[in-house]
Amino acid sequence: MENKTIDLLIHHIGLLVTMRGKAEPRTGRDMSEVGAIPMGAVAIRDGNIFAVGREGDVRAQIAGMTVKQEWDANGRLVTPGLIDPHTHLVHGGSREHELSLKLKGVPYLEILAQGGGILSTVRATRAATEQELFTKAKKSLDRMLLFGATTVEAKSGYGLSVEEELKQLRVVKKLDQCHPVDLVPTFMGAHAVPEEYRGRSAEYVELVIREMLPEVKRQGLAEFCDVFCEHGVFSVEESRSILTAAREWGFGLKLHADEIEPMGGAQLAGELGCISAEHLLAATDEGLSAMRRAGVVAVCLPATSFNLGLKTHARARTMIEMGVPVALSTDYNPGSSPTESLQLVMTLGCLNLGMTPEEVMTAMTINAAHAIGRADTIGSLEVGKQADLVIFDAPNLAYLPYHFGVNHVNAVIKKGRVVVS
Ligand code: NIG
Ligand code: FE
Repeated sequence: MENKTIDLLIHHIGLLVTMRGKAEPRTGRDMSEVGAIPMGAVAIRDGNIFAVGREGDVRAQIAGMTVKQEWDANGRLVTPGLIDPHTHLVHGGSREHELSLKLKGVPYLEILAQGGGILSTVRATRAATEQELFTKAKKSLDRMLLFGATTVEAKSGYGLSVEEELKQLRVVKKLDQCHPVDLVPTFMGAHAVPEEYRGRSAEYVELVIREMLPEVKRQGLAEFCDVFCEHGVFSVEESRSILTAAREWGFGLKLHADEIEPMGGAQLAGELGCISAEHLLAATDEGLSAMRRAGVVAVCLPATSFNLGLKTHARARTMIEMGVPVALSTDYNPGSSPTESLQLVMTLGCLNLGMTPEEVMTAMTINAAHAIGRADTIGSLEVGKQADLVIFDAPNLAYLPYHFGVNHVNAVIKKGRVVVS
């Protein structure tokens, strides 16, 4: 009687945050609607949600079915598995030596212009074997999971040659195959101009377009293509030509846009219909309007602006009021954001971006799912969706960003399986 079985019933949930509702990316007041249910339960079958809602209703729906395993949440908070839609997960080395430069006031782009920053991580990544990269990235991915992430986007971009970019992307693929966290691979060969192409960025752009994109596609190693559109890195024109070529190859498009200088990156993301645009600290109202018209998700990265010591942050409030859907992410990378903790990002999202705990949760679940093209399967706790959820040792949503710097995860369930407890 296999069809009469519930694999896992999570009951005695103090507050169940479902994020049920609108299928589209959420913005404006919809970002405050988290579909919270007191005294909830979730019934899981074959890795998917079979029933979700008030405990009494769920029990009535599964009456007569065999429940293989029951899990008492003991009055805790349950949310959808967190989604990190922007990370530079796979890389060699670390850059703690940049802390002293930063403390002396040397700007991020200046460190890069001197051959440090991203380029020092490129040297470390090229020097590392595939196995070394795998071991290091796995450690970070384990940490992300412990902090509640169940799906993570991962970019290449520290190889900057055909072979080295493929090496990074193969690591993403292997990790995806053997780790409970699902990975979404993004090719970011245009993350910086490598040293051997210094002063010849047009030639490097040609290499990205003519060799890297077709080979990454041929090997099926990435779903999205991203470009670092920034002063001294890739211009708007270069970014447009790379992303236009990427679209022709069938990649979804992302853009690191207007992080430090207002370059018109947000406008470009709107013009090209990118699925998301990232950073956006310096995005203008015109740029944000272009994104709103095209339905581009703004992925804000408050841990990055915090760690760069910037005085300003992404204008999340303006975005939400204008009707741009906002997602949040760690931007985990060894330079501008060395943290795997989405829970730290919750606090920074509230205190530095002015978002409410409800908006933050929307930004890390359903909107983050939209930012990586996965909203049909994850990002909310609804019947038929994948059973990815987190049990937090917290009485309510506001408690998570409020009590900061610690890990509130009690358990994580991925595709119906308890993977952290
Ligand atoms: O998203 N801004 C560009 N890329 C990364 C930083 C990479 C690095 O510093 O290694 C980011 O912040
Ligand atoms: Fe980034």
